Amino acid sequence: ALANLALPVGITLDRYIMQRQTAFPYATGELSQLLRDMALASKIINREINRAGLMDITGSAGSDNVQGETQQKLDVVANIRFIRALKNGGEVCAIISEEDEDIIHTGNVNAKYVVAIDPLDGSSNIDVNVSIGTIFSIYRRVTPVGSKATLADFLQGGDQQVAAGYILYGSSTILVLTTGEGVSGFTYDTSLGEYILSQPSLKQPPTGQIFSCNDGNVADYPAPVQTYLQRCKQQRMTGRYIGSLVADFHRNLIKGGIYLYPPTARSPQGKLRLLYECYPMAFIAEQAGGRACDGEQRILDVAPTSLHQRSPLFIGSSNMIDQLNGMSLNG
Ligand code: AHG
Ligand code: MN
Ligand code: MN
Ligand code: MN
Repeated sequence: ALANLALPVGITLDRYIMQRQTAFPYATGELSQLLRDMALASKIINREINRAGLMDITGSAGSDNVQGETQQKLDVVANIRFIRALKNGGEVCAIISEEDEDIIHTGNVNAKYVVAIDPLDGSSNIDVNVSIGTIFSIYRRVTPVGSKATLADFLQGGDQQVAAGYILYGSSTILVLTTGEGVSGFTYDTSLGEYILSQPSLKQPPTGQIFSCNDGNVADYPAPVQTYLQRCKQQRMTGRYIGSLVADFHRNLIKGGIYLYPPTARSPQGKLRLLYECYPMAFIAEQAGGRACDGEQRILDVAPTSLHQRSPLFIGSSNMIDQLNGMSLNG
């Protein structure tokens, strides 16, 4: 975190990465290049999103993904763009994506990293011009360099992430990044085509006034969660829910708040995916002083068993998550 503070607001992401390179885990320059590749792909997605209505890429793609969800055209476009950028970049040997059932092998068998990605988060908001995002998580592979990546590379557990981030395509586009030494935010300057360091050290307020969940499902929530939400409402706290995890998380990161996606009748294991939604957001939350749990344990301690497994998610300001956990214990 100290290393972050030393870097001046206003420098570009490239320069930030260059200057921080020695502080990165495995300071070989490859992780730096990988982060640049992610940033480049996100600029392309940002352009596509901004022009979506003009380019006939709103609406459904007419296909379903492995989650059984209807894919939006932008889900497909974003997926293709990120995979292409990571293949061309050369630092990634394999990728898992929300939009692909199996591991995607890039052909770069000598590369040292694997990436788990939600290329487009908040699909339901595309067609209504509301904020959407991208979420990613990076691991150093555990299989030998030169061999084909396997499931083991992706099922290392949340604490093994070497970097995680998200891009929020919002009123401005920002990239939020952690490499395990605090959290930094970069705002995209469209006129320069560069991400500029705008928040060198993001800290989540320990408590806040905002609760974020899909209230339509409340009758399905576990009793302690219902009780917690009733108290929020008794205290006249503010309910805010966009329906894009990235946007809901980011607002609560800045202002203080709690995001809840409990198990529901429709999604008994929770809806959000552990490897490319919960783990990266939990890493970022903890690095910003917040917390993330699944109702029983820390998200980063949840054992990964399959690529697309789901998990309940409670994430946000530390005191609010502690209070929720306290209620679960007391019933
Ligand atoms: P995705 O668009 O990547 O499939 O993710 C959607 C997720 C998440 O972004 C959001 O918080 C949640 O689904 C909203 O779900 P509900 O519509 O059930 O509230
Ligand atoms: Mn989806
Ligand atoms: Mn998502
Ligand atoms: Mn998605």
